[in-house]
Amino acid sequence: MSSALTDLFPYPIVQAPMAGGVSVPTLAAAVSEAGGLGFLAAGYKTADGLYQEIKQLRSLTGRPFGANLFMPQPEYADPAAVDVYAHQLAGEAAWYETELGDPESGRDDGYEAKLAVLLDNPVPVVSFHFGVPSPDVLNSLRRAGTFTLVTATTAEEALAVERAGADAVIAQGVEAGGHQGTHRDIPEADGSGIGLLSLIAQVRETVTIPIVAAGGIMRGSQIAAVLAAGASAAQLGTAFLATPESGASAVHKQALTNPLFVRTELTRAFSGRPARGLVNRFLREHGPYAPAAYPEIHHLTSPLRKAAAKAGDAQGMALWAGQGHRMARELPAGQLVEVLAAELGAAGTALSRGGAL
Ligand SMILES: Cc1cc2nc3c(=O)[nH]c(=O)nc-3n(C[C@H](O)[C@H](O)[C@H](O)COP(=O)(O)O)c2cc1C
Repeated sequence: MSSALTDLFPYPIVQAPMAGGVSVPTLAAAVSEAGGLGFLAAGYKTADGLYQEIKQLRSLTGRPFGANLFMPQPEYADPAAVDVYAHQLAGEAAWYETELGDPESGRDDGYEAKLAVLLDNPVPVVSFHFGVPSPDVLNSLRRAGTFTLVTATTAEEALAVERAGADAVIAQGVEAGGHQGTHRDIPEADGSGIGLLSLIAQVRETVTIPIVAAGGIMRGSQIAAVLAAGASAAQLGTAFLATPESGASAVHKQALTNPLFVRTELTRAFSGRPARGLVNRFLREHGPYAPAAYPEIHHLTSPLRKAAAKAGDAQGMALWAGQGHRMARELPAGQLVEVLAAELGAAGTALSRGGAL
């Protein structure tokens, strides 16, 4: 039987899984060693890549950690819309002296094989993004001793997560950096994202399973706020993106606090699914035209993003970031966990005293 979430790690601080080489084993190990919960991101990894990362992480820490999978997406992309977008991006390919990627190259991301790795080599926690796994999958993981988490962006999605049998739900507010974990990508719902504090309250009144809160959290005082609202732990992405252990590029890390980037936006420009990033040239120029086609657009733009990163061109990269990005601190990950925990403690004291006006 899996234990309660908060028994697994001393501080209610989860380092968000961040695909694309950001949440590497050294980052996860540093967080887990400091008393938070470190996470590996397997969304864009092969099954063997996931296995190797688990092995490496286990050599770095004996403490609990998590691994994250993306749910496979239904085939509803409109090939004509993908073609039109590819036509629009031809100039980018010429500018970066590369070819566009094959949109069909990676529809099967190896979900089943990665799941098999996690059942053969059970890890303490597994989380899912972009949908709800079957009750069978969640049961098998529980039997293997794994605690399961699934992202939800509305109270209705949280109910689906509870009914499927997950141990806890990640309530992801619209402030969050990176991809929204919406279960079905419905373009008509664009712009209807719910702010984290409101979402936690709605989820708390809808389900009884524990809640992990994610989105825009950069300080311990905000962790105190989400705990007071009904969450059991906070999941932070952007805050850990800036640490030296994170595998994000130096350009991405510097952009978080560069006054050149003042805003974030949800965009389909890079992947075809809404994700929050710093507003740069690529996002501004192409965001309004990108179709709802994940993972096709992710594969189509992959060589462009790589070429921009190689050239150190922040204006052509996917600079995923949450709304709190300007508060990012370049502290080593373990120290960041300790500072957040101290801030949380101080906020708790302030809360019990009550503030005088
Ligand atoms: C660079 C980046 C990559 C991310 N990749 C993943 C991922 O692979 N899987 C996942 O479940 N969430 C992913 N997320 C979303 C986080 O789980 C979390 O919801 C988000 O970081 C919280 O908002 P914050 O960035 O403002 O802290 C990513 C976020 C960022 C910033």
